[in-house]
Amino acid sequence: MTMETNRILLRPWCDSDAGALFKYASDPEVGPRAGWPPHKSVEESLEIIHTIFNNDTTWAIVLKERGEAIGAMGYLSASDTNLPAREGEPLIGYWVGKPFWNQGICTEALKLMIGHIRKTTDITSLISSHFLDNPASGRVMEKCGFVATGETCVDEGLSGSSRPMRVLRLEL
Ligand SMILES: CC(C)(COP(=O)(O)OP(=O)(O)OC[C@H]1O[C@@H](n2cnc3c(N)ncnc32)[C@H](O)[C@@H]1OP(=O)(O)O)[C@@H](O)C(=O)NCCC(=O)NCCS
Repeated sequence: MTMETNRILLRPWCDSDAGALFKYASDPEVGPRAGWPPHKSVEESLEIIHTIFNNDTTWAIVLKERGEAIGAMGYLSASDTNLPAREGEPLIGYWVGKPFWNQGICTEALKLMIGHIRKTTDITSLISSHFLDNPASGRVMEKCGFVATGETCVDEGLSGSSRPMRVLRLEL
């Protein structure tokens, strides 16, 4: 399943994205903000394409003018996390390569995915979270209509650390 705006495509990841994925996901400014370590090799990036990204609800964010994957957008079960999710409520996740920050790309990609979820699923709400020291991510969620639940919890499930997080929810 592929979705698009004038500027971006959301499409499944493929093996030929491994080089671009490594270029942007090896940046130490990116992964740790989302709770995952920087990629260490193109081989590791390819392995992630084959495993973590190999499902129907994870997309590459492709900037059409570059024809290159510059980030990821998706949702997955929140049940493996310690977030206060409702039964069956998915957790969203995303990142964008640093050269492309603050151009509205993530907000555009998240709105596209939310529209797709509304049209094609029975999902009634989405949960999300971000580290308190990563306000840009919270801003993306707010621009897409997410509302803070007022709860803060520890992201031990994803990062193994105990950094505080803000939890937000979107009612669909
Ligand atoms: C968070 C991230 C995905 C945002 O992507 P992006 O394409 O730059 O997002 P957008 O341009 O759509 O929106 C960013 C918003 O954050 C704001 N922002 C940026 N830095 C900020 C800061 N330090 N404090 C507060 N707001 C900030 C921008 O001004 C913009 O809001 P605005 O449109 O109201 O001005 C990107 O920075 C990223 O990949 N970070 C590393 C990984 C990550 O944090 N993933 C999410 C984990 S929860």
